[in-house]
Amino acid sequence: MEKVTIEKALFCLPWTQTILGTHYEGRVNFMALDWLTRVNYQPPMLGICVNKVHASNIAIHDTEEFSVNVPSTDMVEITDYTGLVSGKRVDKSGLFEVFYGELKAAPMIKTCPLTMECKVAQVIELPTNTFFISEIINIYSEDQFLTDGKPDVKKIKPFVLTMPDNRFWSIGECIGKAWNAGKTIHAPLK
Ligand SMILES: Cc1cc2nc3c(=O)[nH]c(=O)nc-3n(C[C@H](O)[C@H](O)[C@H](O)COP(=O)(O)O)c2cc1C
Repeated sequence: MEKVTIEKALFCLPWTQTILGTHYEGRVNFMALDWLTRVNYQPPMLGICVNKVHASNIAIHDTEEFSVNVPSTDMVEITDYTGLVSGKRVDKSGLFEVFYGELKAAPMIKTCPLTMECKVAQVIELPTNTFFISEIINIYSEDQFLTDGKPDVKKIKPFVLTMPDNRFWSIGECIGKAWNAGKTIHAPLK
């Protein structure tokens, strides 16, 4: 089949949907965030990409702290809302009940089954966005979302975003075990 090139901005890979929590000009602010990735194994580090025009970007430059909150499928509307309006014009502080861990400027959302507080370690300025590389200071969850002490996707019910169709999707069935399914091809080489 012949390959065609598509518009470079039209990524179509799914991203895990999260909500970024910050302190913007002294008040709690939230922003829908999808551009995030694990960037270091030990210590556990997370990279997030935030557009320079957002209140959240200014907030993280100021405090060097933030939270990343993983919402469940029943939080689609409120999650999307945090991405529709800016904290520069709208006070989003009352949208969620929050709690704090070790960091003073990383408000975490109580109703999110998985939350993490992060401290900025490195800042990389790109043409339109800032890539904040951060250390994950703590991750919080509840027994009801864990199986054998580990986050259970079936219980957490996270969702993903696809672009350019701009849709949210729930996660489907498990189709294989990683670091294992490939063993059906041949035994791992030593
Ligand atoms: C579903 C969704 C995902 C988004 N993901 C990102 C993202 O990863 N990075 C980013 O800079 N903006 C992202 N945005 C845009 C911001 O969330 C949006 O502009 C928000 O209003 C900025 O809020 P703030 O000015 O209070 O920080 C996303 C918006 C939506 C609706």
